[in-house]
Amino acid sequence: MFNTPFMSKLLTDATRLCLLSTLLLASQIVLAEDTLSSKASAQKTVLITGANRGLGLEFARQFTQLGYTVIGTARNPEKAIELKALGVIVVALDVTDSESVASMAESLKGTAIDILVNNAGVIGNPQENFKSFDFDQALLTYNINSLGPMRVTQALYHNLLAGKEKKVIQITSILGSIENNSGGYYDYRASKAALNTMNKSLAIELESEGFTCVVLHPGWVKTDLGGQGAPLEPAQSIKGMLTVIQGLEDDDNGKFYDYRGNAIAW
Ligand SMILES: NC(=O)c1ccc[n+]([C@@H]2O[C@H](COP(=O)([O-])OP(=O)(O)OC[C@H]3O[C@@H](n4cnc5c(N)ncnc54)[C@H](OP(=O)(O)O)[C@@H]3O)[C@@H](O)[C@H]2O)c1
Repeated sequence: MFNTPFMSKLLTDATRLCLLSTLLLASQIVLAEDTLSSKASAQKTVLITGANRGLGLEFARQFTQLGYTVIGTARNPEKAIELKALGVIVVALDVTDSESVASMAESLKGTAIDILVNNAGVIGNPQENFKSFDFDQALLTYNINSLGPMRVTQALYHNLLAGKEKKVIQITSILGSIENNSGGYYDYRASKAALNTMNKSLAIELESEGFTCVVLHPGWVKTDLGGQGAPLEPAQSIKGMLTVIQGLEDDDNGKFYDYRGNAIAW
C-alpha cells in the first residue's frame, strides 16, 4: 500500500528534509566551535566559575574590558542575563556535579585557556557554633569550595597546558588562614583552608610544567555572600586582584595573597 507514486514522493521529501536539518545542525555546531576557537586564538582567554553574579560577574566585566576572551560559567545560563550582556561565552557548570564538569570540559575541548579563576563558592552556615555544627552542610560546603576547584582544574588541565600563561587562581578567604583569629564559620573556614592546602600540592606538582597556582583573598566585599556591610565594592576588589594576577611570576607559585598583593599567613 506504500508503493504508490504519492507515498514514495512523500517519503523522498521527508528524507530530504531530515538530511537538510541534520546538515544545518552540524554546520551550526561547527560555526559555534569556529567562533570559539578563532576568538580564543586571537587573544588571551580566561575562564571564571560562578560568573553570573558577585565577584565572578565583576571579574568577567573587567577581564572583558581588558580585551580577554572571557568564558563565564553559571549553574543556570538562561538566567545569567548580566553575564550574557557582557558578550562573554557562557557555559553551564555546577562544580559539585562530575557530569556537569565533564560536559563543560567537552564543550571546550581544544580551546586553550590562559587563566582559570576558580571563583564559585558558598558561605556555608555562618551562624553555626560548635554545638550546632551541621555535618551535612559542612560536607556540601567542602564539596563546593574545596573539591569544586579541584574538579574544574583537573577537567581543564589540557586546556591550561595549551595556554600561554598557565595560571590557576583559587578564590579563597582570609578565613581559611589558621592564623586568623575570627573564630566561627566552621565549615567555611575549613573548606577554604582545605582549598589552600590542595592548591599548595597542585603548585608543587605542576611547577615543572610552567603553572602558577595561587590562592587569593578578595577582601571583604559587598556581594550576596559578603553582605551589604562589607567595606569594599566588587570593582575595587577585582581591580586589585587583576593587578595581582597580571603581575604573577614563577616564584609566586603556591603563595597566598590578598587583593592588594599582600602575603597572608597560612
Ligand atoms: N564577598 C566576600 O566578602 C568574599 C570574601 C572572601 C572570599 N570570597 C570568595 O569569593 C568567591 C565569590 O564570592 P561572592 O562574594 O561573589 O559570592 P556570591 O555573590 O554569593 O556568588 C557566588 C557564585 O558562586 C556560584 N556557585 C555557588 N555554588 C555553586 C556550584 N555548586 N557550582 C557552580 N557555581 C556555584 C553562584 O552561582 P548561583 O548564582 O547559581 O548560586 C554564584 O555565581 C567565593 O569563593 C567566596 O568564598 C568572598
